[in-house]
Amino acid sequence: MSTATRSPIRAIDLQNDRILDHDPFEALDAWRESPPFWCEDFGGFWVVTRFEDCRDLLQDAETFASGMGTTVPAVELADLLLPSFVNPPHVQKLRAIVLPHMTPKRINALEPKMRQVCSDLISSFRDQGSCDIIRSFARQYPIRVFSELFGLPSDRQEEFRDHAETFLHDWERQAEAWVSIRDIVREQLEEKRKHPRDDLLSAIACGRIDDAPIDVDSAVNLASTVFLGGLDTLPSNIGWSFRYLADHPDARRRIVEDPPVVPRMVEEFLRLWTVTAKEPRKATRDIVFKGVQMYEGDRVQALIGVANHDGAEFEDPLTANFDRRINRHIAFAAGPHRCLGSHLARHELEVALEEWHKVLPDYRIVPDTKLFYDGGGIFAIDNLPLEWAV
Ligand code: HEM
Repeated sequence: MSTATRSPIRAIDLQNDRILDHDPFEALDAWRESPPFWCEDFGGFWVVTRFEDCRDLLQDAETFASGMGTTVPAVELADLLLPSFVNPPHVQKLRAIVLPHMTPKRINALEPKMRQVCSDLISSFRDQGSCDIIRSFARQYPIRVFSELFGLPSDRQEEFRDHAETFLHDWERQAEAWVSIRDIVREQLEEKRKHPRDDLLSAIACGRIDDAPIDVDSAVNLASTVFLGGLDTLPSNIGWSFRYLADHPDARRRIVEDPPVVPRMVEEFLRLWTVTAKEPRKATRDIVFKGVQMYEGDRVQALIGVANHDGAEFEDPLTANFDRRINRHIAFAAGPHRCLGSHLARHELEVALEEWHKVLPDYRIVPDTKLFYDGGGIFAIDNLPLEWAV
């Protein structure tokens, strides 16, 4: 039975040290295809990296319960993130309230809004010949689309966006932003309870659990978590995708000349740069898992960003192959906590690639740019200045 100990692992350690000068995926890839091993930092935790091991672990939520990561973020979110930090069977009851608003049919209906938002944003900087795509596009687009699905009144959207942006990117003011987000959500839920409409906030406001109305605190926590779920993940994925595309004119050309390739391209970008690279869990019982003895209470990190690079599951795993026929990646995790927003995410990413390349098919990263990365809860590129001919 192997209980190998390895330490330190830079990109795993740096949960709170968010700005890195190296690509965190490359750092984590050093652990590709390893059996589970013990890392001594932060009081110690197991690291699981193989595709099959991560998938099996995530599917067994009875043994590996959701919980906080190896370090505690600035805001104590442990009891607040719903459904993320609750376990079966309660998780399914909370998800059942949200899921009807996340179906492919619902998401498809948002496509005109997605195209409009992309087109408006691109028009706002196109004639300048350059922009930082992270700030001017990637962080703006998902929140505008989601506000619609959520059912936020238009006069509150900007204020809400500002708080969300602070929550996600200003570590020092995170706690205060979280309070403001929850205040607005609480107020909106009250309003929707009185005047329900066909939107996600109304569904949560009027949701029922075990035949009783959902309590107010759970409704606020559920709505706030669902809102924030897509706000960092999508922009980050857009960043990694465009860093690749900026250096690969052949791939950009394919988007324009062969649009059916776009959904496969999105899957490949999700697989190669799985922004939710680290999934924290806690063992609820003693278990021998994939050959190692784990004990009740042991913390475990499922590195799905590494699992998606496993040669046992993916042929030539580090190559972007947009013609890959089988791509069963776990970028949206697996099991009872599988991402609730996966249809929305996929659709938004496809539309972003299409709309951008209709207008700006040729661009490059501004020469001599030093890229900075975020190795925290979501792996991201912090700055990606692009330029094009006008
Ligand atoms: C590229 C985009 C995205 C990626 C890679 C992603 C990935 C993930 C992953 C891996 C999980 C599972 C976490 C765990 O097992 O603990 C998750 C959960 C979740 N995601 Fe996403 N996500 C994305 C976009 C979105 C969007 C757009 C939404 C918007 C609604 C969303 C909402 C959620 C929610 C509410 C959960 C919690 C589900 C639960 O715990 O039952 N995600 N996501």
